[in-house]
Amino acid sequence: MREAASVAAWCDRRPLLCDTPGVSTLHPAVAPLSFLLGSWKGTGRGTYPTIDDFAYREWVTFRHTGKPFLVYEQRTADLTSGAPMHAETGYLRAVGAGRVELVLAQPSGITEVHEGTVEGQRVRLATTEVGVAPTAKRVDALERDLSVDGDVLRYEVRMAAMGLPMTHHLAAELHREAEG
Ligand code: HEM
Repeated sequence: MREAASVAAWCDRRPLLCDTPGVSTLHPAVAPLSFLLGSWKGTGRGTYPTIDDFAYREWVTFRHTGKPFLVYEQRTADLTSGAPMHAETGYLRAVGAGRVELVLAQPSGITEVHEGTVEGQRVRLATTEVGVAPTAKRVDALERDLSVDGDVLRYEVRMAAMGLPMTHHLAAELHREAEG
């Protein structure tokens, strides 16, 4: 681990990289979420009663900055054509006693605020707030479940959207990428 002055100088030269693993010390509050850290890649399938089923590739990273949250970044692409699909980015906040909060923003004009729990290697979240930009599609609530088993991350997303009750939208299986 680098000395504090050396870390400060390194971060000053590379402000967007200063949370590179190995530079910042993991905040103790984030330790229960450390099983998520790293890069993940895989595929998922989506359904909703109002749309055709679809399949996608997905890339996810969870990284830390030494503060009590993880930075979460995700992007997806059509499994067949490679065209960009959904993307989202946000912060998974460790708020103590097995509680977590997630804040997310999406280019589709939707924001999500969740609260939930971390138990072992499983995170369960439900929205307390969903924000929709004036031209975004209607989304009232979401639930996200995520678990890691070895080097495999699986998640499910359900949403109450387009006037429907809570209904399955996404399920994916991602594999941990070797650190380069
Ligand atoms: C892996 C992430 C996701 C992928 C690949 C994905 C993909 C899709 C696709 C292909 C559609 C149908 C075409 C369209 O309307 O654009 C769709 C519809 C939709 N998605 Fe997702 N989605 C993802 C995550 C989400 C999330 C997190 C939300 C809510 C916050 C969401 C909300 C919606 C809504 C509201 C619709 C419109 C349904 C309709 O028009 O009847 N999606 N999604």
